[in-house]
Amino acid sequence: MELVIKNKNPEPESKIVTECSNKYPQDFINKIICGDCVEILKSIPDNEIDLVVTSPPYDDLRTYNGFSFTYPKIAKELYRIVKKGGIVVWVVGDKIDKGNRSLTSLRQAISFQETGFKVHDMMIYKKKNTPFMRSNAYTNCHELMFVFSKGTPNTFNPLIEPTKRNGFEMLITNKKADGINKKVLGQLKETKVKTNIWEYAVGLGGTTNDSIAFKHPAIFPEKLAEDHILSWSNVGDVVLDPMCGSGTTCKMAKMNNRNYIGIDISKEYCEIAMNRLINSYLFSWDDIPGKDKARLIEFLKKRFGIEWLETAKIKKTNSGKTINMFTEDNFLFLELNGEKTKVNLTINDIRTDEFITRVENGSILVC
Ligand SMILES: C[S@@+](CC[C@H](N)C(=O)[O-])C[C@H]1O[C@@H](n2cnc3c(N)ncnc32)[C@H](O)[C@@H]1O
Repeated sequence: MELVIKNKNPEPESKIVTECSNKYPQDFINKIICGDCVEILKSIPDNEIDLVVTSPPYDDLRTYNGFSFTYPKIAKELYRIVKKGGIVVWVVGDKIDKGNRSLTSLRQAISFQETGFKVHDMMIYKKKNTPFMRSNAYTNCHELMFVFSKGTPNTFNPLIEPTKRNGFEMLITNKKADGINKKVLGQLKETKVKTNIWEYAVGLGGTTNDSIAFKHPAIFPEKLAEDHILSWSNVGDVVLDPMCGSGTTCKMAKMNNRNYIGIDISKEYCEIAMNRLINSYLFSWDDIPGKDKARLIEFLKKRFGIEWLETAKIKKTNSGKTINMFTEDNFLFLELNGEKTKVNLTINDIRTDEFITRVENGSILVC
């Protein structure tokens, strides 16, 4: 993990990066880059990025260390570097000044559409708990999440939720012109695809448990970033946040086995993002087999797409450095090498993989 400072002195006055010689992908993938995204993005070749999940500064609601940005230029660069069928998720709210909404969010969406993006969806981020009370209007509890696509989306992994009513019911069917409804016993579906209104708790414990993230004034919830990453990208894809702030998108991309690129103009925010990424780990060796077995299984399932893991048994071997996960016909084998720096994982269909680890307070964390 590496913090790359493209802009030697990223103070508000010197926010334009004049020279950007770094090479793609080696200087970009899984890095946090400090500089003006409009300039940094120019070093990324056309049609490279699978997914962008980002949130721009909202009008002049917060100063973000004094930096500003120009969205039409960002829209143009994003359109160039996103793959055909790639997605940009743009999370944005408006300033309400003396009872007047700025509508900057809508202006930005129109700018993206004029650049060539399709407005694939206009979703709502609903906050479960919100401090934005108004004396003569309803409490504002939402922001917009525009989903822009470069042509038809390549990936859509719809998020599923349980239905409120399920089981068997007499269902209306075969309504004829005489208006008489026939009812037959039918089974209601147990799950459905989520709607485009997503609700999240905000604040410590809701947005994130990383208290350092709150040094940034405007973070979005980890779950929000994760839900978009799971919906619009696949394992191994490249997820970019050109205004990454505290690094929420990058952290969730990493946790879901995507590659990330994070850019922010503020060195202070880049350092927060780095800190969060360094401290995020996929599972702790000491959690296995224990309560957190579920976490390991969830991670390995996502990473390798192996369904039989659901029923796998986990066993630590004598040395404590090796564990087997097995069902009747399948097995996974995880082994720490001598230096305790890497974990090797072998699946019985000859696939193998390696994880980086680090030791912290005597625990081995798999990153
Ligand atoms: C709404 S915040 C993003 C917060 C982020 N989603 C999170 O969860 O922490 C917007 C960010 O844009 C950054 N920013 C503003 N202008 C920029 C520019 N030209 N290039 C890169 N970053 C910029 C600000 O420093 C700020 O951190």
